[in-house]
Amino acid sequence: MNLPNLKEAKVRTKNKTLIKYDDYIIPKAIENIGKNKTFHIITYGCQMNVHDSENIKAIMEDLKYQETSDMKDANVIILNTCAIRENAHNKVVGMLGRIKHLKQENKNLITILCGCMAQEEVITNLIKSKYKWVDIVLGTHNIHKLPLYLEKIVNEHKQDIEVYSIEGEIYENIPVKRDSKYKAYVNIMYGCDKFCTYCIVPYTRGKQRSRLLEDIVLEVEQLVTSGYKEVTLLGQNVNAYGKDLNLGYNFADLLREVAKTQISRIRFVTSHPWDFTDDMIDVIKNYNNIMPYIHLPLQSGSNRILKLMNRKYTKEEYITLYNKIKEQIPNVSITTDIIVGFPGETDEDFNDTLDLYHLLKFDLAYTFIFSKREGTPACKLKDETPLEEKRKRLASLNEVVNKYALEHNKKYVGRDVFVLLEDYSDKDNKLMGYTDTMKLVNVKASDEYLGKIVKVKITEAKTWSLEGELHD
Ligand code: 5AD
Ligand code: SF4
Repeated sequence: MNLPNLKEAKVRTKNKTLIKYDDYIIPKAIENIGKNKTFHIITYGCQMNVHDSENIKAIMEDLKYQETSDMKDANVIILNTCAIRENAHNKVVGMLGRIKHLKQENKNLITILCGCMAQEEVITNLIKSKYKWVDIVLGTHNIHKLPLYLEKIVNEHKQDIEVYSIEGEIYENIPVKRDSKYKAYVNIMYGCDKFCTYCIVPYTRGKQRSRLLEDIVLEVEQLVTSGYKEVTLLGQNVNAYGKDLNLGYNFADLLREVAKTQISRIRFVTSHPWDFTDDMIDVIKNYNNIMPYIHLPLQSGSNRILKLMNRKYTKEEYITLYNKIKEQIPNVSITTDIIVGFPGETDEDFNDTLDLYHLLKFDLAYTFIFSKREGTPACKLKDETPLEEKRKRLASLNEVVNKYALEHNKKYVGRDVFVLLEDYSDKDNKLMGYTDTMKLVNVKASDEYLGKIVKVKITEAKTWSLEGELHD
């Protein structure tokens, strides 16, 4: 048993990150452990977590388990959790209640909790005391050891908590079963060293560790060969890519090399305004397979709050960067993240955020009420604004967000755009996909168009999506 420790998770040394190419193994004794058995996985949170679940699915299939979409049928249930805000916690606690009933009916059901929540002391303590029936808890640093933990539980039937609060390493040979045949997530780095004061990620995901450029390019080349059309390069702070490696290359260099692989579409998330260089803007502008879409979290429009958040830029610096990107990259769309109700945020601070939003007119924003995360510096700040007031601020911000989202979308009506049709739409027998600028489009088209990049005429704009017709 190894329990997490937030103080240890905060440590950053100068030690070099180890890259391991053969640490994931399946011992012969358990290679059929899942034969005629099924697993069900529930994923919360960001793309990074979704991609971790793609790894977990492949590991389970290596052990001969088969995925089932029905939780009630499963022999193994896996909860891949998120810790970013309180409501992510609440969802998992609710789900644990449902799983408990299944476990009471079937004593052989194996339950696994993994992901960012597993990295939190409060959670593992809770699991140890109140949820003794959860079989395995494993953290974000040791997914590759899942087969060994499964073997142990099958043999010993005893709760096993294996969570490491280390800076982290890189495991290159973990298998992956991707959810889509057309678009793929590719990790370019793990962890984060920014330590924004509200954020739990630097503790749950460890220090910033970049993958080697050649390993990333090789992965993208293999995806091209397998017919993939789009990659999204993933990192908590992608423009700091390479800084920890000291090998003389950076994110702009990586983008350039990935662009040369001939993959049709390249996206990347998430950018931090701090490390966004002119070189990056140039590369995005110069390669037409790098999509003109940038997610650039602002978090607040008040310099006082940005400082308390440890964001390391002022609103003036953000405006300068925003305008530069808009001027240099034709047709670019920029989206953002904003937190309202950070401890000490006054009406004036909030109005600064609203004013800045009116000035910049983002394509879209993901907006959140500040959520206290145990162990982060912001958790200790005095927070006197009532929740009711924070909810009001969120609602008034969302009104502005929606107004500009619709305005941006309306500009598309009558225009021709290219869309990668990736899935069935929820309604009207349509297919759905995204424009280069990340606008969701529903199109009437038959199955044969799935996985194709097609020219679409936009006929209608809504706040969250566009409707279009296939061009003939
Ligand atoms: N409370 C509210 N929102 C948060 N985010 C991160 N941590 C918190 C928190 N403690 C938001 C930020 C980040 C996005 C992924 O989640 O806006 O950009
Ligand atoms: Fe969290 Fe800030 Fe790192 Fe983003 S950059 S993961 S908000 S600490």
